[in-house]
Amino acid sequence: MLLIETENELRTHLASLLEKKQLGLVPTMGALHKGHASLIKKAVSENDFVVVTIFVNPTQFDNKEDLQKYPKTLEEDLKLIHEISQGILVFAPSVEEVYKNKVQSKSYDFGGLENVMEGAFRDGHFDGVGTIVSTLLKMIRPNKAYFGEKDFQQLQIIRKLVEIEKLDVTIVGCPIVREPNGLAMSSRNERLSKTLRQEASLIYESLVTAKEKFGTKSAKDIEDWVIKQFEDHPDFRLEYIIITDVDRLLPITKKQHDKKYRAFIAVYANEVRLIDNIALN
Ligand code: PAJ
Repeated sequence: MLLIETENELRTHLASLLEKKQLGLVPTMGALHKGHASLIKKAVSENDFVVVTIFVNPTQFDNKEDLQKYPKTLEEDLKLIHEISQGILVFAPSVEEVYKNKVQSKSYDFGGLENVMEGAFRDGHFDGVGTIVSTLLKMIRPNKAYFGEKDFQQLQIIRKLVEIEKLDVTIVGCPIVREPNGLAMSSRNERLSKTLRQEASLIYESLVTAKEKFGTKSAKDIEDWVIKQFEDHPDFRLEYIIITDVDRLLPITKKQHDKKYRAFIAVYANEVRLIDNIALN
């Protein structure tokens, strides 16, 4: 495994790999867990060479405290990557290396995908995500780039970004990896107390029941039912539960049989914000 911190070094190494047929990229912000590992393993199995980036991108954080508290665990991350494959190149640049002297995002029009859910509740978040992912894709020029369905809205926005910027890369979506109780793996789970981490299974259980109800009940009935599940729980505050189609992420009006739908949820467990989603059909 090779750890690289500057764009110049990265270019030198990528140039020497030009004869490699397939290059896969897995962008991350570090604090790696089994969710990230699943993306890296898939990339390793589908490519001749894999680059994992570790970069806590300041421009996608609307909340300064969240950015400051973001865990930095480079040594453990490198160990996890090394255990998957020793041939992986890890690119972990500094903020200055990526943004030079201008820590600022570009402003994107993702056709409305950026205005709902995470976009509505986290100001400027997807401009920050678009900016860093575009920068990394242009720097590394992978054939395939891997993103988790855990952040399904982000995945759809990145597909749109690739379309807008006409980038020659295939975006691969990967299934959500969960803890044994169903809670979606996230670096934020570490900030939950042991009890709350167990109780947070309510989030996934609600989504599973929403899926069961989807065949017979209206979206409004299902959303109301989920709201009720969290109402009596003092440790949780539901921010949103929304059922949308998967392409435009617009709230469902009338169910159409040729369309795919998902339920999306954001919940505060004490001060820790958790998100999850599930395919409904
Ligand atoms: P980060 O939160 O580190 O996640 C990196 C990738 O891992 C994302 O594609 C995310 O969807 C995926 N991932 C996280 N938890 C997962 C889980 N439980 N199951 C499956 N995949 C999971 O998402 C980001 O970083 C950033 O926004 C980034 C794309 C790197 C841009 O800065």
